[in-house]
Amino acid sequence: MTRYEDVRRVLTDPRFTRVGIFGTGADEELIEAPNVMTEERSILNVDAADHYRLRRLVQRAFTPRHIATWRPWVASVIDDLVSALVSAGPPADLVPTFTTALPMQVICRLIGVPTADQPQLESWGERAMALSAFSAEEVRSAMNEFADYITDLVAARRAQPSDDLLTSLITARDDGDALTDIELVSLVRDLIVGGHETTMTALGNSLIALLDDDRRRWQQLTADPDLAGAAVEELLRRVPIGDGITEAGLLRCTTETVELGGTTLPAGSMVAAGIMCANLDPAAFPQPDELDITRQPATPILTFGFGPHNCLGAWLARLELELSLRHLATSLPTLRLDTAVDQLTFTDGLMTRGPVSLPVTWSQPHDRATA
Ligand code: HEM
Repeated sequence: MTRYEDVRRVLTDPRFTRVGIFGTGADEELIEAPNVMTEERSILNVDAADHYRLRRLVQRAFTPRHIATWRPWVASVIDDLVSALVSAGPPADLVPTFTTALPMQVICRLIGVPTADQPQLESWGERAMALSAFSAEEVRSAMNEFADYITDLVAARRAQPSDDLLTSLITARDDGDALTDIELVSLVRDLIVGGHETTMTALGNSLIALLDDDRRRWQQLTADPDLAGAAVEELLRRVPIGDGITEAGLLRCTTETVELGGTTLPAGSMVAAGIMCANLDPAAFPQPDELDITRQPATPILTFGFGPHNCLGAWLARLELELSLRHLATSLPTLRLDTAVDQLTFTDGLMTRGPVSLPVTWSQPHDRATA
């Protein structure tokens, strides 16, 4: 499905389900390697009452209002990263120093993961997002090690509660209901992987889009950093985080015969809801190919999905992206790519496609004074 209205319908109509797409009895051709998306009991792969129960227990921590309370400390993480860049001076590679570091530090601090473990989580996270970059065996053993690590973390936090999301998830109660240990481990893994890989890729690809094309859009942003919120929405709409090939869309399966877009889909049909295609539907976004960072769309972008499974971390991702663009545009207005865009290399064989390195440079204050 590629039209905006059809995609939205697939993502909201309960006759299109996630249940049974992966896991026991699933079509093996769909799974190159069992990754974070294919876990049968993941929040992504349960529906109706099972899903509602899980969402209810966790979503309080992710409402826009609650996320807004994290703004000062997310800003302080960005402040530290930008200060480190400025004091080291140009040139720099923004991938290790910023686009990877920020989402990883934020999600780890939020969940309560020790800083020293971050490199290990990065490696597991990459494997958890693999399509063909790693063998099925490599992915499986990374996913198991990752699960064992989280199981130990949960046990440690149970013994010694702290002021973090993991403790809140352990103690989350609703009408006497609570998350089981299996649900907790799967959810924390989804949060670490989802919280890091996608945001990191969106950040890297967005910076490239802004700094490309004679830095026209970057200059728009530096002239008016208050555009950062609208710019993020537009960059998320227009700049894909997948590779456009493996990213056919969000998979759903029909539970009964459904009429959609003039086509009859028999029960058991596999449907790919093409969220990035829908973002380019001229019926929803006039002049959809244009990357216009001042755009005020009348309809929501579908990059974070829609309906019951819409991205739990959408407001956190938006917050990190908006504060990053605002801070970089204010502190490093002369930022520019230190290589031609066609010389950049991108990750391959993962669900996300982002820059492997992002060489940039900028003018020091004394350069500007003498320029
Ligand atoms: C730019 C960044 C991000 C993008 C583009 C993105 C995209 C998505 C999409 C499209 C879905 C819906 C999948 C479906 O319906 O099949 C989703 C679900 C999800 N995302 Fe994100 N995500 C991002 C950031 C995050 C962050 C920061 C977190 C965690 C803090 C996160 C955690 C999740 C979780 C747990 C789900 C499953 C929700 C459910 O099934 O109820 N994501 N994400």
